Amino acid sequence: MPIPLLARGFQEGISSIPYAWTVLKVVPWVLLVAALKYYFGGARNGSERLMHSKVVMVTGGTSGIGASVVHELASRGAQVILLTQHAPSDVFLVEYIEDLRKATKNELIYAEQVDLSSLHSVRTFATKWIDNVPPRRLDMVILCGNTAIPSSATRQLTEDGLDEEWQVNYLANFHLLSILSPALRVQPSHRDVRVIFTTCSSYIGARLNLQQIEAASTPGAGAGASKASRGTKNSKNGKKTGAGSKKPQVSLFGASKLALMAFAHSFQKHLNAYERPDKMPPCTRVIVVDPGFSRTPGTRRWLTGGSLWGLLLYLLTWPFWWLVLKSPQQGAQSILYAAMEAKYGRGTGGWMVKECQEVDFARKDIKDEEGGKLLWQFSEKQIELKEKEGAVKRALANKEQQERENQKNNGSSSTKSAAKEQTPGSRRSRKVNK
Ligand SMILES: NC(=O)c1ccc[n+]([C@@H]2O[C@H](COP(=O)([O-])OP(=O)(O)OC[C@H]3O[C@@H](n4cnc5c(N)ncnc54)[C@H](OP(=O)(O)O)[C@@H]3O)[C@@H](O)[C@H]2O)c1
Repeated sequence: MPIPLLARGFQEGISSIPYAWTVLKVVPWVLLVAALKYYFGGARNGSERLMHSKVVMVTGGTSGIGASVVHELASRGAQVILLTQHAPSDVFLVEYIEDLRKATKNELIYAEQVDLSSLHSVRTFATKWIDNVPPRRLDMVILCGNTAIPSSATRQLTEDGLDEEWQVNYLANFHLLSILSPALRVQPSHRDVRVIFTTCSSYIGARLNLQQIEAASTPGAGAGASKASRGTKNSKNGKKTGAGSKKPQVSLFGASKLALMAFAHSFQKHLNAYERPDKMPPCTRVIVVDPGFSRTPGTRRWLTGGSLWGLLLYLLTWPFWWLVLKSPQQGAQSILYAAMEAKYGRGTGGWMVKECQEVDFARKDIKDEEGGKLLWQFSEKQIELKEKEGAVKRALANKEQQERENQKNNGSSSTKSAAKEQTPGSRRSRKVNK
């Protein structure tokens, strides 16, 4: 059919073919869109690795890029432990895991409640993990948990009184890995253990001034800090309340990503410095991954500014975002590459991956030993202080609760006895009067 048509076109001219000019006008545009889509879709992971029996711990595995990574690894047979802020009984979580198990034909998918905006929650989980005897198998930790507050939105503070972006994106990861470090070091030397951090290009322009971060991340605690009251977690609906304060002067999102990368570098050094009892070289390698801009719930929330008007604008301009942003599956490719590429199972670790290839850090200060040490000390101090405050708050709350219960019990028993005593003409009162 096309050959006779083409032949006719050659003999009698293009105009003799119906709609030929229209097709010729449209085709270049279609090709252009296809080429742009292919370009913005980024590189695809071509590495394969047997994931059966591998134990993979994932933060942020319930949505966006993390969910795609989890789906891929679970399909390959990995045992997945989702660290999520939701309670195990949460209907959404239960359904999500059921669907995932069905879709990946893998029953080994579990969830543990770890709210990255609570240092106590992170400690509770991590200490439970390392207290296990014999030590539990752990092949990989993938850190996709993230929050990005739209610039127009009210600043959010965690229950620890810290800036949410700083705590969820950086401090909670520091806390988690600091506690889990013995569990990583204790893995047999033949095991290929990987810790994958996810970052974003916003680290390139970020500033990591610890004094400024101290003031900005703990409003009310330092010089230049916001005077606004602290937001707390609403115990009834579990939602965090905004502090109602101005945005901090430094971008804490960018700073949290830069700090995370500097910590990733120091963490690799810390792991490598450990002398194993069997005198074998360390088997845990750290890889930092930039997945690239993707259409995830987090990006959508950031682009829409969390408002209805923003959402409407986003929907109207959706074809543009569809073209220039990766899908979550495409965003997951570099993480999957870092998780599966054989060469990252050897060597001293501390690499960065972008578009499924190894790249250098765009900031030289990430590898600064002195800066890394200061950041480590700063983070430890911040956690110590906030954990102490949290412990006092919890103890006071428990005491109040206890007192209320005691009062309730005493009240009910005294009313009961009073009622018994005051019943006129009763057998008890006649006995007492005798
Ligand atoms: N998307 C992009 O354009 C892009 C670009 C560059 C880099 N990255 C990086 O890629 C990673 C994943 O990004 P994404 O866009 O997929 O993120 P996302 O859509 O915002 O998802 C974030 C995940 O973190 C979880 N999370 C948030 N707060 C938490 C908390 N307090 N405790 C426990 N979990 C919490 C969320 O859980 P829930 O499901 O319960 O909300 C969700 O699963 C991030 O590190 C991000 O910086 C993303």
